[in-house]
Amino acid sequence: MSAVAEQTQVLADRINALEESSTLAMTKMARELAAQGHKVISLSVGEPDFKTPAFICEAAKKAIDDGFHGYSPVAGYPDLRKAIADKLKRDNNIDWKPENIVVSTGAKHSLANVIQVLVNPGDEVLIFAPYWVSYSEMVKLAEGKSVIVEGAFENGFKVTAAQMEAAITPRTKVVMYASPNNPTGAVYSEAELREIGAVLEKHEGIYVLADEIYEYINFTEEGHFSMGSIPALKDRVITVNGVAKGFAMTGWRIGFIGAAKWIADGVEKLQGQVTSGTNSIAQKAATAAFNGPLDTTIEMTKAYARRRDLVVGLLKEIPGFKVNVPDGAFYAFPDVSYYFGKSDGTNLIKDSDDFCNWLLNNSYVSTVAGSGFGAPNCIRISTAASDESLAEAVQRIKDAVATLK
Ligand SMILES: Cc1ncc(COP(=O)(O)O)c(C=O)c1O
Repeated sequence: MSAVAEQTQVLADRINALEESSTLAMTKMARELAAQGHKVISLSVGEPDFKTPAFICEAAKKAIDDGFHGYSPVAGYPDLRKAIADKLKRDNNIDWKPENIVVSTGAKHSLANVIQVLVNPGDEVLIFAPYWVSYSEMVKLAEGKSVIVEGAFENGFKVTAAQMEAAITPRTKVVMYASPNNPTGAVYSEAELREIGAVLEKHEGIYVLADEIYEYINFTEEGHFSMGSIPALKDRVITVNGVAKGFAMTGWRIGFIGAAKWIADGVEKLQGQVTSGTNSIAQKAATAAFNGPLDTTIEMTKAYARRRDLVVGLLKEIPGFKVNVPDGAFYAFPDVSYYFGKSDGTNLIKDSDDFCNWLLNNSYVSTVAGSGFGAPNCIRISTAASDESLAEAVQRIKDAVATLK
């Protein structure tokens, strides 16, 4: 046995069972090709291409000067938890007190915490697909069982209340979804979420993990609706959000939950043993973000909407691509399965993983295969890039697929 294989055997089973994040893997490969001198257009990462608004950066600088250098309370500074409670009231019609809020190191951390706190081995977690790559792996870490419920392309990639109801069993503990969605950009309307909520009202032991990290990047007229605002479900909905997407603050690592006190207490207990309170300077920056004006956020969203139109329009011109129109977030998610089984004479494209690898190595455009998102016919293209880069990238994709026969 090789040394590496032997070392891998020593790792805990829970780590050997874990998949590597496909988005991070593609981004790493893209960086390597760029380092070799190739002109790579990287559309694999889920990250705004804007800078954090200046007033938020100023708050961080002030926090350093004011001496916020020590450990912070495990659940976050009181002023940040208050700012988040105010934000939930203002934007989401959810009435939580600061004691219901726990701040963590990014929404990813918040989601992982809640799953650890609620899911016992063998418990089922219904995940609305297509879903963000980390959901199923977080459930695996908690020894839960992911039950994937697929939203059809024809229904804008959204799961219906009837589909969800059919998947519920006595072991269902959590239902998990993101709206706006990564990777599809689908936005669940108030009517759709109320219908889903009505089913869940009948099942008292089921909790809802509502991932609202893309809340502000919503192009619909109706806007965002939070399932946590439905009074009958309030105590069973854990609302997860953060600053990464709406305020272009991915590297600052601030996420939060708003939840019933006993769930918030469970998360605080876990966090108290694993990470403690998150970065003090970033917390002060996030406080400014939640208390501040949303003008920059609105401007960024306008740019994402314009790019959505640009990319969707260009993708629709590619023969064989089936293209949805995302209502939010910053991704396009075309179905490229028309090209499965085709070849450029040397490389056979069997699936979306082959498609993305081939595209990266031949056209130097990095995208992410839909397989990791529970949608093996699709690829995810981030639209968080300049208009010129996006137009050039889609042209390269168009030229590349023209060679597949
Ligand atoms: C659907 C979804 N939820 C959560 C996250 C994590 O956000 P954060 O950067 O705050 O951890 C992401 C990031 O890509 C995401 O796409």
